[in-house]
Amino acid sequence: MSDDSLLLDFQNVSVIKDDKFVLDRISLTVGADENIAVIGPNGSGKSSLIKVLTREYYPIADAPGLRADIMGEKMWNIFDLRKRLGIITTDLQYTCLRDDTVFDTVISGYFSSAGIYDDFFDVTVEMKAMANEVLKFLGIHHLARQKMTKISSGEARKALIARALVHDPKALVLDEPTNSLDMKSIDQFRKTVSSIARAGKNIILVTHDLSDIIPEINRVILLKNGRIFADGKKEDILTDENLTALFEVPVTVQKNGAYYTAFC
Ligand SMILES: Nc1ncnc2c1ncn2[C@@H]1O[C@H](COP(=O)(O)OP(=O)(O)O)[C@@H](O)[C@H]1O
Ligand SMILES: [Mg+2]
Repeated sequence: MSDDSLLLDFQNVSVIKDDKFVLDRISLTVGADENIAVIGPNGSGKSSLIKVLTREYYPIADAPGLRADIMGEKMWNIFDLRKRLGIITTDLQYTCLRDDTVFDTVISGYFSSAGIYDDFFDVTVEMKAMANEVLKFLGIHHLARQKMTKISSGEARKALIARALVHDPKALVLDEPTNSLDMKSIDQFRKTVSSIARAGKNIILVTHDLSDIIPEINRVILLKNGRIFADGKKEDILTDENLTALFEVPVTVQKNGAYYTAFC
C-alpha cells in the first residue's frame, strides 16, 4: 500500500551502472514533515540517490520487495514529479548559466527547461506574479532583469532556488548546494534554505560537507559505497567515530551553535 504521509518510501533500491552497484539495497523512508541530510564521501552514491528520486535512474526491477514511491505514488509523469520537487544540483547551475535574465530563468522552472521559448511556452500572468513573489521572498528582485552570466555565483545560486520554488513544490532537493560559493554566499545560502524550511517545505540535502546541515535538519543518513551506513537523529549520527569510519580518515566533529563542522 502506498502511504502519502511519506515523502519517500524506498525499499530495497539498487542501481547498477557499468556493471557496478552504485546503490546497493537502499531502504529509506522519509516522512512528509521531515528534513534530512544525506552525507557521504565522493562516489558514495549521493547524486545517484537523488537521480532515483527524480527518476533519472531506475532501480533494478526484480529486487524482492522493491519500492521507490514518492509522495505515495509509484508511477510518476516526470514533468509532474519535477513540479512537486524543487531541484538544485551543480549540473543545473551549468545548464542555467546562459544568457537569459534571472526572471526568465525563474519562469523556466515551470517548464523544467533551460530558457524560455515564447512560441512554445504559455507563460501566464499568474506565473509572472509568482516569479516576482519568489524573487522578493529571496531578496533578489532587483536582479530580475540581469543576465545569469553577469551576476555572482552566490546570486546565481539564489536565482536557482527561486527557479526551484516558483511552482510551489512540496520539497526542495539540494545536491552539494554550496560548492564553489564563497563564505558570504554560503552564509546567505544557508539562511535562505532555513527560511524555506521554516516556510514548510521539506528539505532533502545531499553533501559531503557537514557545515551545509542547517539547524532545521534533524535527521542524518550516512551513505558509504552505495549503502546506508547509519541513519538517525543528527546529534547521534554526527560523531567522530561515525565520520571517521565513513570518510576513512580520522575526523573530529565540532558543534558551533546549531551548526556542525568536521576536521581531519
Ligand atoms: N551513469 C553512470 N555511469 C557510470 N557510473 C556511474 C554513473 N552514475 C554514477 N556512477 C558511479 O557511481 C558512483 C557513485 O556516483 P555518485 O552517485 O555520483 O556519487 P556521489 O554523488 O556520492 O559523489 C561513482 O563511482 C560513479 O562513478
Ligand atoms: Mg554527487
